[in-house]
Amino acid sequence: MRGIVKGFPGVRALDGIDLDVSAGEVHCLLGQNGAGKSTLIKVLAGAHQPDAGRIRWRGEEVRLPDPGASLRLGIATIHQELDLVDGLTVAENIHLGHETTRWAMIARSEANTAAARLLHRLGHPEMSPTTEVGRLSAAGKQLVSMARALSRDARLIVMDEPSAVLDRGEVERLFEVVRGLADRGVAIVYISHRLEEIRRIGDRVTVLKDGRTVASGLPANTPTTEVIRLMTGRSIDYVFPPRTPVPEGAEPVLEVESLGRRGEFRDIDLTVRAGEIVGLAGLVGSGRSEILETVYGARRPSTGTVRVAGTTVRPGRPAAAMAAGIGFCPEERKSQALVLDDSVQRNITLADLRRFSRWGFPDRAAERRAAADQATGLDLRPPDVDRPVRTLSGGNQQKVVLARWLSRGCRVLLLDEPTRGVDVGARAEIYVLIRDLAARGIAVVVVSSEIEEVIGLSDRVLVVSDGELVFEGPAEDIDEHRVLDMVMEGDVA
Ligand SMILES: Nc1ncnc2c1ncn2[C@@H]1O[C@H](COP(=O)(O)OP(=O)(O)OP(=O)(O)O)[C@@H](O)[C@H]1O
Ligand SMILES: [Mg+2]
Repeated sequence: MRGIVKGFPGVRALDGIDLDVSAGEVHCLLGQNGAGKSTLIKVLAGAHQPDAGRIRWRGEEVRLPDPGASLRLGIATIHQELDLVDGLTVAENIHLGHETTRWAMIARSEANTAAARLLHRLGHPEMSPTTEVGRLSAAGKQLVSMARALSRDARLIVMDEPSAVLDRGEVERLFEVVRGLADRGVAIVYISHRLEEIRRIGDRVTVLKDGRTVASGLPANTPTTEVIRLMTGRSIDYVFPPRTPVPEGAEPVLEVESLGRRGEFRDIDLTVRAGEIVGLAGLVGSGRSEILETVYGARRPSTGTVRVAGTTVRPGRPAAAMAAGIGFCPEERKSQALVLDDSVQRNITLADLRRFSRWGFPDRAAERRAAADQATGLDLRPPDVDRPVRTLSGGNQQKVVLARWLSRGCRVLLLDEPTRGVDVGARAEIYVLIRDLAARGIAVVVVSSEIEEVIGLSDRVLVVSDGELVFEGPAEDIDEHRVLDMVMEGDVA
């Protein structure tokens, strides 16, 4: 790709990008949130038309007027926002968009067998091809999307943050698949904000900044500090902010007692004091997210109670949880959290509209100020609160969800994967913000698939395996390997 330019109203998303990818290599694309990575690969996928620039494919200049054109050349893309159809089965989604003449003639059972084979190759023989996709977790959907790309026999597979919804074990399997493909001569474009992944899986790295290529085809083992400097234009020592000890005698704010939900988790006891950050570690599917959702009332518990500041919260009702001061930033921001066509401002103030009214009339100025403050605090890019959320990059959408709860003033904050898809620079800022909230006396519970994050950010760590708490202890007494051993033990079955 040479000199690719793409503008949207008010933004020049791509401002002359060059990218060269060779057969058999894993080429990583790096850049801060909003740098233009997803836009670039949408151009390559035929989903966006560039305003200028040329694309050459195996030596010949090509035009990609629509996604079908890319697919026919052998370019398969796994987009950041997965484009699956919830009402169809796993197998139907995998074969979706294949030349219909070919697939219409193939019996359903054959489609299911082919799908099962692909899922097996991805290390998930247990996933049924006949399950409806809408019922899968984020990680499950990601796998379906990957199986679909594999089913095309593509020469180039583009993966836009495939690991963001996967846990460690699944990332390992993904890497095996990626390596296997590259060894057979398939070219891979891999986008991720996790720099350690890039060093492990990547052969070369291209760094984008503000819609331009600032480094192309660097070796993947270029020192991290150098890569960060290229991405951000500054150097960041992205360590976690220091822990401030929870004051002696701090009151318990959140008390969860023998909480359980049939088939999901049981006997969960959890107390979080004012000013404390508690991290839940565990594999995807271990029950971490379900526990948070139940505390928030989005799921009804079969046993147990939730108390906030000593008062029992009515179970199974998010409204009751919110009234009690519980804030929840969910894992799947798109389906659960954002109103995509609404403005950034509306999405930030959504949970708190009452605060922004005076004598019953909406106080637009106050609403705007609150939203603008958060946008600045989280380094939202662009810092324009009037844009529809749909037009923000993935990482910036995540910041909007966080901003909503940060601005609301809750007593308990439940954060499920708070930095998913967020670049290294903004990550460091989010950690500081979460620490500051705790310092103001808020009780925080964090779930993350990144064990370093759980340990680095929390005061106390709880490990969940197979729906049960298997460990609880101060974060400084535990390291990544111990947590891994504990979660893997539960996983051998
Ligand atoms: N459909 C659109 N309409 C308007 N602006 C858009 C649209 N899509 C992307 N943009 C803007 O283009 C810029 C680049 O966005 P892009 O999604 O490519 O970033 P990214 O590098 O993938 O970021 P992230 O790491 O957060 O996913 C951003 O400023 C974004 O707000
Ligand atoms: Mg993106």
